[in-house]
Amino acid sequence: MKNILVVIGHPYWEKSVANKQIVEALKATGQNITFSNIKELYPDCKLNVDAEQRKLLDADVIVFQFPIMWYGAPSIMHKYFEEVLTYGFAYGPGGDKLKGKPLIASCTAGAPENAYSRTGIQGYTMDELMPPLTATIVYCNMKWDGYVCSYGMMHPTSTTIDNHVSRLLDKINSL
Ligand SMILES: Cc1cc2nc3c(=O)[nH]c(=O)nc-3n(C[C@H](O)[C@H](O)[C@H](O)COP(=O)(O)O)c2cc1C
Repeated sequence: MKNILVVIGHPYWEKSVANKQIVEALKATGQNITFSNIKELYPDCKLNVDAEQRKLLDADVIVFQFPIMWYGAPSIMHKYFEEVLTYGFAYGPGGDKLKGKPLIASCTAGAPENAYSRTGIQGYTMDELMPPLTATIVYCNMKWDGYVCSYGMMHPTSTTIDNHVSRLLDKINSL
């Protein structure tokens, strides 16, 4: 069974509905998943970089789970990138420790899917907003395996949550 690491980056975890339900549904699948919830583990924002890097090293597949905030990953996820994906570990000389590891982004958006188009209220498609994350992953020598996004997630239903988890697991299992 694949060793899956789900890194959760949600700045308001205690208020989360959608991401929490996705995580609960993932826990119920019985898959071999380690969850690293950055907000819960480090309420003082002082990340244990060694511990987080070890989790990445142990994983066969990495998932970044987050809500879309201001068109991308929230700042807590960026803090994780800045502190954990370090020079000599994830990039630069000797920075090949994550080489080839598959990575999938799993995100929730508040706006409806039709808002994510050139003519929609968001003005861009989700594909057009992903490059900063994709580039980071590729720069860090990981294998970008795309993203699973669910829209209209201010008001998730059990159907949208089940659908999200099923698409995510299909992606993981197809690797
Ligand atoms: C500061 C902030 C910025 C947000 N920016 C966006 C955005 O750019 N696009 C969008 O679709 N939703 C945006 N949202 C809505 C969140 O994506 C949505 O509330 C979240 O995915 C729901 O998941 P949760 O219940 O786990 O928090 C934003 C929410 C907050 C609080």
